[in-house]
Amino acid sequence: MKVRHLLAIKDLDREDLDEIFALAADMKANPERYGDALHNKTMAMIFEKSSTRTRVSFECAMARMGGHALFLSPKDTQLGRGETVSDTAQVLGRMVDIIMARVFKHGDVVTLAEKSGVPVINGLSDYAHPCQALADFLTILEHKGKFEGLRVVYVGDSNNNVTHSLMECGALLGVSVDCACPKGYYPAPEVVEWCREVGRKTGATFNVIEDPVEAVKGADVIYSDVWVSMGVEHEKEQRLIDLHDYQVNLALFEKAKSDCIFMHCLPAHRGEEVTDDVCDHPRSVIFDEAENRLHAQAALILCLFAAWK
Ligand code: CP
Ligand code: NVA
Repeated sequence: MKVRHLLAIKDLDREDLDEIFALAADMKANPERYGDALHNKTMAMIFEKSSTRTRVSFECAMARMGGHALFLSPKDTQLGRGETVSDTAQVLGRMVDIIMARVFKHGDVVTLAEKSGVPVINGLSDYAHPCQALADFLTILEHKGKFEGLRVVYVGDSNNNVTHSLMECGALLGVSVDCACPKGYYPAPEVVEWCREVGRKTGATFNVIEDPVEAVKGADVIYSDVWVSMGVEHEKEQRLIDLHDYQVNLALFEKAKSDCIFMHCLPAHRGEEVTDDVCDHPRSVIFDEAENRLHAQAALILCLFAAWK
């Protein structure tokens, strides 16, 4: 892999992605081969926001490979009492081998990468969730056997970290990602512009279609995320009104291709953005996706360490 950090999917190229997916598949099939790969290595995990999957998958990935992970919450560290991200980065870089951070401001993972002197992984920021996209496309490959020519339709709040990384990864892989959302919830214009530019070479297209029924016609994958992301809880009431017509329910799911799969980064707010019958549908792959966080990130960690050698 050519990059030394994973802050956003757009920092990678197709070769990097193929390397991560191939290694992740091998690690999933043959975990015993990697039992000692991170002997004596320590990961610092900074969490400014809640997490189940990201915390557990990184902690288990480190443990399975013979290393270990430290959970650092601003509540219990000096970050919460005003120590700067830059100073924290320089201190952690003297002690740990790799840093993973879930932050409010994307600029904070950039500072960690600039100042720490060790690999840094973005575990979700206001702009991107690259680890989620790696697991998502590993899951798509497992279920569809290919990338090129597929069409993902993301339904709901599209000005969202998960959507942005899904789009950037689709652009590099030749997978079209369309968004079904109302005005005010479009993906960030700079992300759309970058994806369209890359998509001109890979064959992927990126459109916003406000009518969800129109949008999901011909979809190979329908993707959903919460309507109220962490950090925008104060907008909850308005978001539930604005996004009301963008629920992925059985009626909408059945408008897509007959082999369409349902994906969601989780946690799901069942009964809001998605219904139980779609979450638990035979063509829902949400728990494969969650499991693949572990395998994709284990591969990512090894690729990053290799890039620093
Ligand atoms: N999908 C995801 O990142 O889940 P967590 O918030 O539980 O880590
Ligand atoms: N968009 C969601 C993703 C959670 C994994 C959020 O930021 O809260």
